Amino acid sequence: MKKSIDRLTNDYCPQTLFLYGTYKEDGSPNFALFCWFSYCNNDELCIMACIGEKKLTKELIAKNKVFSANLVTEELLPLADYFGTNSGYNPEKMSVPVEVTKGAVLNVPVLERSPLAYELEVKNEIDLGGDSTLYICRISNILADEALFSGTQRPLSLDAAKPVVTTGATYFSVGKPLGEWGDWSKR
Ligand SMILES: Cc1cc2nc3c(=O)[nH]c(=O)nc-3n(C[C@H](O)[C@H](O)[C@H](O)COP(=O)(O)O)c2cc1C
Repeated sequence: MKKSIDRLTNDYCPQTLFLYGTYKEDGSPNFALFCWFSYCNNDELCIMACIGEKKLTKELIAKNKVFSANLVTEELLPLADYFGTNSGYNPEKMSVPVEVTKGAVLNVPVLERSPLAYELEVKNEIDLGGDSTLYICRISNILADEALFSGTQRPLSLDAAKPVVTTGATYFSVGKPLGEWGDWSKR
């Protein structure tokens, strides 16, 4: 029997986690953790990212119109959790050891240890009110570790990537392959 949930929180929204990378005015990188992230089609495959309240990432995206989104893996979780619970307005935030490279196409910082990173350019910025902004972004480039493709270009191997998902302020692991689309309807 189903139960109606009367509280509107993201306790009931499974979400994949990404670290958004932006460059500060002095050219140094900033990273922060995000889960309001998904995909949409707008003539081409795009990414939707929602950012609420005042935060450094939002300020830098508004200014530069580009950022990276780096998939959070189980290995990256300690760093990701730190980046999600510390404000970029604290000048000490980025004084942790982290390997950063530059995007191949856009001027965005990319996390070396993330196996999948998108280089994103803001196409549309939608003010949702209540201090929330929705960014529809063009995927200018995808950087992916070869190890995730088992010698082919697709699909991305989630059991190798070990991405982290979240719901109810809790992190979960995913990745066990369950077969391809269409396989199950034949059984
Ligand atoms: C698991 C997790 C997911 C988060 N997802 C979002 C999100 O999707 N949107 C958002 O505005 N803030 C989100 N945050 C909050 C930011 O990561 C946090 O405010 C961070 O300190 C911002 O850092 P910055 O000032 O360097 O941008 C999330 C935090 C955590 C811990």
